Amino acid sequence: MLQGKKGLILGVANKRSLAWAIARACSTRGAKLALTYQNPRFEEGTRELAMSLPHGGDVLVLPCEITQPAEIESLARAVKAKWDTIDFVVHSIAFANPEELRRPFRETSKEGFQVALEISAYSLIPLAKAFAPMMPQGGSMLALSYLGGERVVPNYNLMGVAKAALDSTVRYLANDLGSAGIRVNSVSPGPVRTISAQAISDFGKMLEHVEMVAPLRRNVTADEVGDVCAFMVSDMSRAITGQQIHVDCGYSIMGVTTVADAPGGKS
Ligand SMILES: NC(=O)c1ccc[n+]([C@@H]2O[C@H](COP(=O)([O-])OP(=O)(O)OC[C@H]3O[C@@H](n4cnc5c(N)ncnc54)[C@H](O)[C@@H]3O)[C@@H](O)[C@H]2O)c1
Repeated sequence: MLQGKKGLILGVANKRSLAWAIARACSTRGAKLALTYQNPRFEEGTRELAMSLPHGGDVLVLPCEITQPAEIESLARAVKAKWDTIDFVVHSIAFANPEELRRPFRETSKEGFQVALEISAYSLIPLAKAFAPMMPQGGSMLALSYLGGERVVPNYNLMGVAKAALDSTVRYLANDLGSAGIRVNSVSPGPVRTISAQAISDFGKMLEHVEMVAPLRRNVTADEVGDVCAFMVSDMSRAITGQQIHVDCGYSIMGVTTVADAPGGKS
């Protein structure tokens, strides 16, 4: 499905990262990859993970602190030097200060707001600007969103606002880049245990709740998220742009989500 495609995946922190699941899914379907990690703390682990991929020695592993324009520029230069053109870019990056998320939402600080929005939403714009010129035949850009940007999810707080901004950014970029044949979409997974997820209070309860009320009566796995992302960066999804694809065992279609109100729910 991805034979002959070259793609960049940003946001590997460890083996639980969704970026890593996406990398596995794309690599096993034939894509050549470049992976990024945020800072030197994650370099060795990311290199080890990359080596475990098919043709791991050929995977480009590079740093990218997304708030630093110079790092995006040097990333783009390194990718251009290796491949000249690229077929897909996956943005799997988000951050909000965990303290901001633990406070009542009305206590959100201006600085915390700016940090969360810059890293989790704005950063897609300079990334798209840097890599669109390397997609002369078109391509696919993908971001990772979450239901908390569309609806209120308790404890998701500021990250929900950041995801709402990300979702809108995806749509505006899709319109901006569509005439160049570049598609921009997001995938919205249900909750998966990762480092970022640890910042959300009562995350374990969220997992239990989804398992009880989602139509499929279970949580999504990172591998399943990776598979959908591989589809979204492949030509199989070539007519899809500006969309958000939920990969959440159906949770997002539910209105009333108490077990008692879900016929067939686990009792
Ligand atoms: N885990 C979930 O339940 C879940 C659900 C829906 C969406 N998502 C989204 O998936 C994406 C990946 O998150 P994850 O759950 O794999 O967690 P993760 O912690 O493994 O990945 C988040 C990545 O963002 C990177 N990052 C944070 N600040 C950065 C910065 N300033 N510059 C560069 N990189 C930076 C981290 O280094 C890390 O690699 C995020 O957008 C997250 O919101 C996660």
